[in-house]
Amino acid sequence: MGAEVKIDALLENMTLAEKLGQLTMTAAGHAVTGPVIAGDSVEALRTGTVGNVLNLIGADHVHSWQRLAVEESRLHIPVLFALDILHGYRTLFPIPLAEAGLFDPAIWAATARATAAEAAADGIALTFAPMLDIARDPRWGRAAEGPGEDPWVGRCVAESKVWGFQGESLARADTLAATAKHFVGYAAVTAGREYAALELSERTLREVHLPPFAAAVEAGVAAVMPAFTDLAGLPLTAHRRLLRETLRERLGFDGVLVSDYNAVGELIEHGIAADETEAAALALRAGIDIDMMAGAYRRGLPIALQRGLVTMAEIDESVRRVLRLKERLGLFDDPFRRGSQKEPVAARTEWRHLAREVAARAIVMLTNTRDTLPLDPPPKRLAVLGPLADVSAEMRGPWWAAAPPEGHVTVVEGLRAALPAAEVRHAPGVSIEDADTSGIAQALALCDGADAVVLCLGEGAVMCGEAASRAHLDLPGAQRAFAEAVLDRAHERGARVIAVLFSGRPLVVPWLIARADAVLAAWFLGSEAGNALADVMTGRISPSGRTAMTWPRAMGQIPIFHAERPSGRPFASDNRYTTRYLDEPNEPLFPFGHGLTYGKFTLSGLRVAPSVARESDTLEAQVEVTNEGKRRAKETVFLFIRDKVASVTRPLLELKAFGSVTLAPGERTTLTLAVPVRELRFLGIDLEPTFESGEIEVLVGPEAARKCLLTATVRLADGSPR
Ligand code: NOJ
Repeated sequence: MGAEVKIDALLENMTLAEKLGQLTMTAAGHAVTGPVIAGDSVEALRTGTVGNVLNLIGADHVHSWQRLAVEESRLHIPVLFALDILHGYRTLFPIPLAEAGLFDPAIWAATARATAAEAAADGIALTFAPMLDIARDPRWGRAAEGPGEDPWVGRCVAESKVWGFQGESLARADTLAATAKHFVGYAAVTAGREYAALELSERTLREVHLPPFAAAVEAGVAAVMPAFTDLAGLPLTAHRRLLRETLRERLGFDGVLVSDYNAVGELIEHGIAADETEAAALALRAGIDIDMMAGAYRRGLPIALQRGLVTMAEIDESVRRVLRLKERLGLFDDPFRRGSQKEPVAARTEWRHLAREVAARAIVMLTNTRDTLPLDPPPKRLAVLGPLADVSAEMRGPWWAAAPPEGHVTVVEGLRAALPAAEVRHAPGVSIEDADTSGIAQALALCDGADAVVLCLGEGAVMCGEAASRAHLDLPGAQRAFAEAVLDRAHERGARVIAVLFSGRPLVVPWLIARADAVLAAWFLGSEAGNALADVMTGRISPSGRTAMTWPRAMGQIPIFHAERPSGRPFASDNRYTTRYLDEPNEPLFPFGHGLTYGKFTLSGLRVAPSVARESDTLEAQVEVTNEGKRRAKETVFLFIRDKVASVTRPLLELKAFGSVTLAPGERTTLTLAVPVRELRFLGIDLEPTFESGEIEVLVGPEAARKCLLTATVRLADGSPR
């Protein structure tokens, strides 16, 4: 029987309660990812009144629950099992913000592929990932989960992740349906405060926040999750225009819309629904197919039907989409396909290797004064201090899926393994968050006689991710006092201090950057964190990660990002009446794209062809890259454009391409970056895409700071006049 015929037959046969079961997702309680826990899942599977389950872990559990549905329920419809699998399942990879900094689409896809295989082997069929929110405010903890501040990066990540998770066919046993989330604009919550309402201009919404979702839809993403937030007066869960017109009609999304956790019920708190019935009707009419955790569809839609707030046709449309997804996933053919594979032991070793490589490449060397790194010659005595130096669980980051707390390599373990002849001594000094300073003296004593001090500081893993907004982005607890004391003592004794900063976002720590001899942004690197950090510190691998978010010098600069639009009064140091702060420079501490290597790269000879380009052409920028340093290293190069005169103001820098080369000492090569000219279209005054004639600056270099960029000019012909 063809899929649609089968679905028609099922729909024909289903009671209203069974239909609403397919539109309901409840949690199993193996992982707690929200404030509401449902207690009825098991019985509801038998009665067909729950068709989708999140947070159940382990193939045995998944299969026994699946059996209840396919063997004991009246219509034998298989259950969809879902989980948040953001950066690995048991084998954890670096958090998405860190992984974005590799600027390597093949790697972005590879980690999603490995993750899908590992999670599907446990019976999971859908992940609530990738998270595609473009984050320009590091106070918002969820910046950790996404691709950073740039929409072009967001697009590239979206494409790679959807492809990586879903593979060529969702019917395969080693794939996961992906969910692009959170549609759309969530990262712009007011003042970076989690779950707050937000305002966005239509231009910013379309230019910055929508493009990654458009790319995910284009790549065939199976599901989309709207944000729970209020956008300019309408929560996304009820945003008919954005969900039906923009997402479904304009972008062409025909997959499943799954609400965020309890988001349908929260329409009452938002103040646009008086009760569950109204909330359910608003969400369904906006196009939400699955109600996650509110139970509002099950309880509210029967009444909404009676009251004429929704139609059976609207319910059927959503049920059809859910059943189609189950069909695409091969669940009707074989509901036990996922989770029946043999223990993937060999693959697990491969995934750990991949995790180590990706983690090493995600580390961003923020500073390295006097060539403090790599540690060469290898130190004989090393003090590895700080509350994040030796805690496996903290290496995991905010979404550890099925990974237990133990088994993730710490910095102490990594350095001991990499430097077997060295004496590696450790003391935490202080804890991550509390004010107790009684352990500082013991840690300071370890600085005496050490050749170098590795100081592991930062946020705890649960201080970023969901429900983790912070108003202060300095180090929490007593860490600053501790770090200052270590810096004093180590410097007095002539030992250099390498600060390793763990965080899910840029921190605001100018004092540490100024005082430490080298600073590595370690983000949260996952299961192989300690080995990866040791690989970089010992020089086995040159650091090559770049920050995908701008690092502010002061909280007052937030939000700060490279693609700002120009001011009519650009900063001039001798003119007070230009755009500036009285008490801080405008520049960030580290711009988007910043990250040092053990090489010493120079870029020269930028040329861009054709010099007069039409919309159907492809621009090719070529630049000579030379490694004048003493070590083999990898350099990432960015291409920005600047449209100086257009019918609407354009950002000072717009990222359009990136690429990288690995060069031995003294080696030189030509790097080519290509940009299809149609990518230079933008939204005109009427917010419709336009292609205008005129001059475009092409800026190429290692980070988003004008002084580091080479410039060439091309003329766009054939476009509309301004
Ligand atoms: C709430 C989060 O916003 C969302 O990202 C996640 O997928 C769900 N909880 C399910 O855990």
